[in-house]
Amino acid sequence: MGMKAVVYHGLGDIRLDTVREPRIKEPTDAIIRLTASAICGTDLHMVRGTFPGMRPGTILGHEGVGIVEEVGKDVRNFKPGDRVVIPSTIGCGNCAYCRQGYYAQCDIANPKGKNAGTAFFGGPELSGPFDGLQAEYARVPFANVNLVRLPDAIPDDEAIMLSDIIPTAYFGALLAEVGPGDTVAVFGCGPVGQFVIACSKILGAERVIAIDTIPTRLEMARKQGAETIDFNSADPIEVIHSLTHGLGAYHVIDAVGVDANQPHSGPAIPTPEQKKQFAHEQKQVAPVKKEKGGNWHPGDAPSQVAQWAVGSIAKGGTLGIVGVYPQTATSFPIGAAMEKQLKINMGNCNHRKYLPELVRFVEAGLLAPSRVLTQHQQLLSAIDAYRAFDERQPGWIKVELVPAKSPVIV
Ligand SMILES: NC(=O)c1ccc[n+]([C@@H]2O[C@H](COP(=O)([O-])OP(=O)(O)OC[C@H]3O[C@@H](n4cnc5c(N)ncnc54)[C@H](O)[C@@H]3O)[C@@H](O)[C@H]2O)c1
Ligand SMILES: [Zn+2]
Ligand SMILES: [Zn+2]
Repeated sequence: MGMKAVVYHGLGDIRLDTVREPRIKEPTDAIIRLTASAICGTDLHMVRGTFPGMRPGTILGHEGVGIVEEVGKDVRNFKPGDRVVIPSTIGCGNCAYCRQGYYAQCDIANPKGKNAGTAFFGGPELSGPFDGLQAEYARVPFANVNLVRLPDAIPDDEAIMLSDIIPTAYFGALLAEVGPGDTVAVFGCGPVGQFVIACSKILGAERVIAIDTIPTRLEMARKQGAETIDFNSADPIEVIHSLTHGLGAYHVIDAVGVDANQPHSGPAIPTPEQKKQFAHEQKQVAPVKKEKGGNWHPGDAPSQVAQWAVGSIAKGGTLGIVGVYPQTATSFPIGAAMEKQLKINMGNCNHRKYLPELVRFVEAGLLAPSRVLTQHQQLLSAIDAYRAFDERQPGWIKVELVPAKSPVIV
């Protein structure tokens, strides 16, 4: 038979292929028929080569909503027909890390071993690798833990945001210790940044300052009540200080990661030395580049957001980093952070820990995921959708991919 899936072939080279449908391998597995998937900023890092180590042939995607098709004999809490959301990262549910909520640090789930890194769908060699969720069907390991039931009241185009970006944004706000009355700064107004704004408000933040340069993304942030800064026309560090009587923001979240850009206009433009440093970092994080024929757009300043975050945070403040950095990234302004006595928390989201609570938030109307979802595309046009998202075309903020066997509802 075969199914359609987005398959990684090489840097800047992804294709919609017909591949074999997954089968149950372990008694703890389930097979899910996906009714919605999505493209994440993390997928872009992998296609651009700034999150290296992808194995050709891996199915991409780590966001999924669907219907349980089949369960292994040890999956006793789900049955065919159940509607579920799949957390992006994979935990076993039993090890000491999982039991404390550190699902992304699970000792068991990653076949490459307990110190290889977070196990997740559609990731590089060291993450498993596990075939991803931009497909018609997927195999979910440790399905008793890695599936979360969905109420009928949450439609697919809202539920798909629960798979990765809402938990990640909530995690980011918690890492930055956001609480009632706080002033928060969030770097990046992509889908994750948008939900950082919403989650900070849920946690009681008084003010959120949001930094990006893409007009439609800044506009969406303003609509949520954030005060916005375009880094190509103003210096984020200066503006954040002037908005806070020189204090800085006590809680800062990096929702950009390795593909950060430097300003190409305005007062924050880097000095020649900084440009040289960024060029060096680019080589360090992604030594292999697609020579020609690629229109994928890696960032040009891997440590830009780290520098701005540390520069704009108040003394004694807390920085939460959810923007992804590969293991090859080593630049961080440690001296400035030390001087300010910062607390720095970071990591891959422990999606499973937060999902049940966040499902309830969406059901109760505290979060409105459909405001951030701007595009509904058929899985069949996934490659064009990837390109538009990579180019950050105006209005393309979050893209849902709908497999052919499910109707697209707009
Ligand atoms: N830790 C986790 O578990 C986890 C989970 C999901 C996503 N992520 C990461 O979160 C990040 C955001 O994801 P997304 O889907 O929103 O990505 P995205 O690529 O859509 O958004 C990134 C945004 O950052 C902006 N940006 C670039 N340089 C900037 C700068 N110097 N200052 C401020 N903004 C800048 C871009 O214009 C863009 O709008 C990515 O790094 C992604 O890999 C992490
Ligand atoms: Zn993601
Ligand atoms: Zn575990």
